[in-house]
Amino acid sequence: MSLQDNVWTLTLALLALLALVFLFVVTQAGRPAADGAAVQKKAYAMRRWLFAALLVLGAGVAWGTLVPFPIPPQYLGTLAPQVVKVVGHQWYWEMSPTRLKAGIPVEFDVTSADVNHGFAVYDAQDRLIAQTQAMPGFTNKLVHVFPPGSYRVLCLEYCGVAHHGMFGAFEIVAQHEGGQS
Ligand code: CUA
Repeated sequence: MSLQDNVWTLTLALLALLALVFLFVVTQAGRPAADGAAVQKKAYAMRRWLFAALLVLGAGVAWGTLVPFPIPPQYLGTLAPQVVKVVGHQWYWEMSPTRLKAGIPVEFDVTSADVNHGFAVYDAQDRLIAQTQAMPGFTNKLVHVFPPGSYRVLCLEYCGVAHHGMFGAFEIVAQHEGGQS
């Protein structure tokens, strides 16, 4: 059964339950009032149970629908990172070094010399791998571990007339080939 079918069935069941509650209320409406205090006590007890049940249900649903956080972990582990200094300019990226090793965290220290830019790393298939803001007066750190390959850097923040032409590039090589140039 698809998710839609499940939701549909659940909705129908809840509607039926609601209808039963309404029917009950309607049939009880004409009856003389029972002892108020006793009814109140019973209602409060029911409310406590309902609250506890909803709490458990809510926590369960929240836990069950958790998805992995979309931003890769920003810790370095025990390996010393390869630090790349990145400065965004209108309209080019200043980056050093641009030849790095695979399997060792790369730490981009990203800032801007003028206006806000978006530092975005794309792989050879033009998939967005990681990104952060390049902001004047701030240095944003972006940590990522890359497999070998050629990577392109594009700007993701509109920064003036040549924003679309703001490209950069770097290479990730296998560890035995040596990086840092
Ligand atoms: Cu730099 Cu857009």
